[in-house]
Amino acid sequence: MLGNFTYHNPTKLYFGKDAIRNLKSALAPYGKRVLLVYGGGSIKKNGIYDRVISILHEAGKEVYEDAGVMPNPTTDKLAEGIARARAHGAEFILAVGGGSVCDYAKALAASVYATCDPWEEYFVNQNEPTCKTLPVGCVLTMVGTGSEMNGGSVITNPAIKQKNAHNFKADLFPRFAILDPTYTYTLPYEQMVAGIFDIFSHVCEQYFSGEDDNTSDYLMEGLLRSLIHSSRIAVKDPLDYEARSNIMWTATWALNTLVSRGKATDWMVHMFGHAVSAYTNATHGMTLAAISLPYYRHILPYGVQKFKRFAVNVFDVDAAGKSDEEVAREGLAALEEWMRTLGVAMDIASLGATEDMIEGMADATFINEGGYKILSRDEVVAILRESLLAK
Ligand code: NZQ
Ligand code: ZN
Repeated sequence: MLGNFTYHNPTKLYFGKDAIRNLKSALAPYGKRVLLVYGGGSIKKNGIYDRVISILHEAGKEVYEDAGVMPNPTTDKLAEGIARARAHGAEFILAVGGGSVCDYAKALAASVYATCDPWEEYFVNQNEPTCKTLPVGCVLTMVGTGSEMNGGSVITNPAIKQKNAHNFKADLFPRFAILDPTYTYTLPYEQMVAGIFDIFSHVCEQYFSGEDDNTSDYLMEGLLRSLIHSSRIAVKDPLDYEARSNIMWTATWALNTLVSRGKATDWMVHMFGHAVSAYTNATHGMTLAAISLPYYRHILPYGVQKFKRFAVNVFDVDAAGKSDEEVAREGLAALEEWMRTLGVAMDIASLGATEDMIEGMADATFINEGGYKILSRDEVVAILRESLLAK
C-alpha cells in the first residue's frame, strides 16, 4: 500500500541549451556577495567559468571564489570553505560543477553560521541546522548524483575513513539549478559512464524494496528504460544531444525525492559504495557498479518476484516456459551485459581495494533495513570479498 507522505521540492530548474542565460534573473532575489564554489579546474578549461563570471559581473554581484573542491569532498576542505565564506560575508553560494561541488556547497551553506562541528552535527548525528543557512544555486556540469534537485550532501572524513551522507531539508535544496546538457560534453568518458551507473543505482535502490503495487515502480521502470536506451547511444556518440539531454533529465528525476514517496527504499549499494570510496577515494559511480552484481545476486532469492518484474519490464526478458528465478537471473545477466557495454568497474580491486581493507570497509558500511534482506556483518564481508575477486 502506498504510504502517506508529504512531497515538496522547491528547486527551480532551467533546462536546455544555453540555459545559463537565466542565471542573472535567477540570482536577482539574492544578496550581492556571491561565493563561487567550483572544483579542480574543468570549468576553466571548457569556458563555463568565463561565462559565469561575466554574468555575475553583469548582475552587479561581488564575486569571491572557493576553488579546489575535490571529488568526494572532505571535512578539511569544508573547514577551509567555512573560513573563506565567513571572511567575505558570503550571502549566496553558487556551485558550478558536479555532485561533489553541489554537495559541498550545501554543507557549507549549513555551516557558515554554525557554532557546532558540522561533521558531528550533520553527518554523524544527522541533525538539521538550527542556525541561519545560506541559499545555494547550482550550475551543473556532471550528471549523475541528482544533487541539483535534492538536499543530499556527502562528505568524507579521511582521518577516520568514513564517508557519510546527510539529507538536508528543503531550505538547503538548491534554490535553482541550471542544466545545460552541452555542459557535460567535456566530461571524460569514464565520468560519463560512472554518472550513468549512478543514476541506474539511484533508481534500483528505490525499486528493489517492498512488494506493493505502486505508481513509483512504474515510473522507475520508465526511467530505467530511457536511461539504458540513451546510454547505448551516448557510449557510441557522446555528443548526441538527445541522448545526453535524456540522461541529464533522468538523473534529476531519479533522485529528486519523488519516486521514493510512500514506499520502502534499500540504499545498500550506496552504503557499500561509500565505504569503498572512504578507503580508495574511487569515483562514486564506479564503486556502485563494482558492488551491484555481487549484492543483487546475493539478495535475489529474497525478492524473486521484483527481480523477475525488473527482468521483464526493464530488460525485456522473455519469461515464457521459465521459472521465476530463472527469469530473475536472466535480468541480472542482461544487467551485466549492459554494464560491460558501458565499461564500468566490475570489481573493487580495480578501484584500489585490497584484501587487508575488507574488514575496515565492512565496519564503514552502514546496514540499512529497507531492502529484501537485512544483511549480517558476515554477509557484508562476503559481498565485499566477492567484488574484490570478481572478473
Ligand atoms: O573538479 P573538476 O576539475 O571540475 O573535475 C570534475 C571531477 O574530477 C570532473 N568534471 C565535472 N564536470 C566536468 C568535469 N570534467 C570535464 N568536463 C565537465 N563538464 O568530473 C569529476 C567528478 O566530479 P564529481 O562532482 O566528483 O562527480 P559526481 O557528480 O559524480 O559527484 C560525486 C559526489 O556526489 C556524491 C558522491 O558520493 C560523491 O561524493 N553523491 C551525492 C548525492 C546527492 N547529493 O544526492 C547522491 C549520490 O548518490 C552521491 O553519493
Ligand atoms: Zn549515487
